[in-house]
Amino acid sequence: MNTPVSNNIHKHKSLVSRDDREHLNGHKSVVLWFTGLSGAGKSSVAHLVEKSLHDLGCRTFVFDGDNVRYGLCADLGFSAGDRVENIRRTGEMAKLFIEGGVIALTAFISPYRADRERVRQLLAPGDFIEIYCDCPVEVCEQRDVKGLYAKARSGLIKDFTGISAPYEPPVAPELVLDTATLSLEDSVTKVVELLRARGIIGQSGP
Ligand code: ADX
Repeated sequence: MNTPVSNNIHKHKSLVSRDDREHLNGHKSVVLWFTGLSGAGKSSVAHLVEKSLHDLGCRTFVFDGDNVRYGLCADLGFSAGDRVENIRRTGEMAKLFIEGGVIALTAFISPYRADRERVRQLLAPGDFIEIYCDCPVEVCEQRDVKGLYAKARSGLIKDFTGISAPYEPPVAPELVLDTATLSLEDSVTKVVELLRARGIIGQSGP
């Protein structure tokens, strides 16, 4: 829990609870936290999972690292400290979306184990589903969809994750997607199956 710098602030209790919202939606709320290297497929899988869930009638929202850095986190770069703050803000945002009854999907490299663990601790047990998009850096570099690995190798980008900045893989994620070999469709199926198995969504829909 963050300690506010402000004094004299008081929490106001909502008249509509998370339970009320979940009941209205017909499914539970949760955070699907995708982590992995740039180019490992986090965004692609997250957006396709969102589309599948939306088509089933679920309330969803994707927070994509690149997109969030255009707005809420436009003041942050890629130093270790800025990445910590990036993940802290995203975790807090995800918490609000959980209260709002939404299935929130986040696609951030989130390279530090401690930061991901902090988000897990911020949420109630079971609300944080860590999904590791496990793809070797060699494969990400070979794909180099955005041309960033080439720039990082030539020194044009510093502190680039996997090349000149660290990535700490999860120790016990809820799900590992071997995105070097799995098709996008198979990855999506595995995530949706996990949600069904955990009772987040029903067997045939929300
Ligand atoms: S995080 O480390 O703070 O979680 P985030 O997911 O928001 O990163 O942003 C990663 C995206 O920013 C990458 O997919 C890539 O497109 C871009 N990017 C630009 N510079 C870097 C860098 N130095 N390291 C990693 N990604 C970078």
